[in-house]
Amino acid sequence: EVVDAGGAIALPGFVDLHTHLREPGREDTETIATGSAAAARGGYTAVFAMANTDPVADNATITDNVYRAGQEVGLVDVHPVGAVTVGLEGRQLAEMGMMAAGVGRVKMFSDDGKCVDDPLVMRRALEYATGLGVLIAQHAEEPRLTVGAVAHEGPTAARLGLTGWPRAAEESIVARDALLARDAGARVHICHASTAGTVELVNWARAQGISITAEVTPHHLLLTDERLGTYDGLNRVNPPLREASDAEALRAALADGVIDCVATDHAPHAMQDKCCEFAAARPGMLGLETALPILVDTMVEPGLLDWRGVARVMSERPAEIVGLPDQGRPIAVGEPANLALIDPTASWEVVPTDLASKSQNTPYGGMTMPATITATLLRGRITQLGGEVRW
Ligand code: NCD
Ligand code: ZN
Ligand code: ZN
Ligand code: ZN
Repeated sequence: EVVDAGGAIALPGFVDLHTHLREPGREDTETIATGSAAAARGGYTAVFAMANTDPVADNATITDNVYRAGQEVGLVDVHPVGAVTVGLEGRQLAEMGMMAAGVGRVKMFSDDGKCVDDPLVMRRALEYATGLGVLIAQHAEEPRLTVGAVAHEGPTAARLGLTGWPRAAEESIVARDALLARDAGARVHICHASTAGTVELVNWARAQGISITAEVTPHHLLLTDERLGTYDGLNRVNPPLREASDAEALRAALADGVIDCVATDHAPHAMQDKCCEFAAARPGMLGLETALPILVDTMVEPGLLDWRGVARVMSERPAEIVGLPDQGRPIAVGEPANLALIDPTASWEVVPTDLASKSQNTPYGGMTMPATITATLLRGRITQLGGEVRW
């Protein structure tokens, strides 16, 4: 089959270091199949499936199954993320070596949604990971600094009494883990950086020679705490939407390379868990199908990033961070291609029921997105063309 790519921008297929596919355990909200379809539509050729499933992905049986299921669907390479501990709140380290050696070849470990808050557990995890050559991804959400269940802060949140989740909850963990990584000679990856202070800390740590990388989500580039004024549960997410000055610092850091890459934190939830009072809503929002357009809106159109830079933050850097040799680079002649074709002039409206994800918890419903992913190819096979998923 021939794809007419006239006028399109061809980028290496996107690599998402932070996706929640909800399988096993919450197949009512997303499955490896429906999440893979959403990924293909978003231009992705590889996603990292987070470990906070039910049961938790803390052993090789589960991580191998996630990998195999992804291969069977065949729309995107699904790389399992392993849990750092046995259970997400445990203190006992999981058998990371077994997961790294399994068919799922786990390259990254995380206690997502919980963060490794015990400093000694994090220290031992970094030491273990260094020996294995794998990466620890840190959610940087110190639970002992948060107040109650409501996880937002900023002027609008303060006016509404939603003052739960201060910047220090994130930044204190980033600082701590930079120092632990230094002492362990380890690499640490910061998930969903959300504050200007985190940017400064990552920049400082790197200047000291510490091996630290960081990702930012599309929603933290675009949305701010002003959105909370409506009490709409769709805007609840961890870490919280912060202030315009934070979003501005995150955009500048992504342009400069202080923040390495964009990761979606695609977090599907059932409507009854989101369309409710803010404080009762589960944190998290969809991300895979809208990530590139939001990057165009926040970074390309204002002139902060060119298309070369988009390839870097959506594909090359994430592939380098986790070590995926077949992703994130230009294709040689004769080699099967991982590609996303972009029409930067075709805008579209987000209709939640039209998304390929099994869930509809997007905060962007009704918004106009400035670019379309016209086709995605995984090793030369068309996985999506004109929005139609090729199963
Ligand atoms: C994530 C989820 O729903 O699993 N939620 C979120 O608000 N980001 C967990 C996480 O990444 O912290
Ligand atoms: Zn998180
Ligand atoms: Zn914790
Ligand atoms: Zn997450």
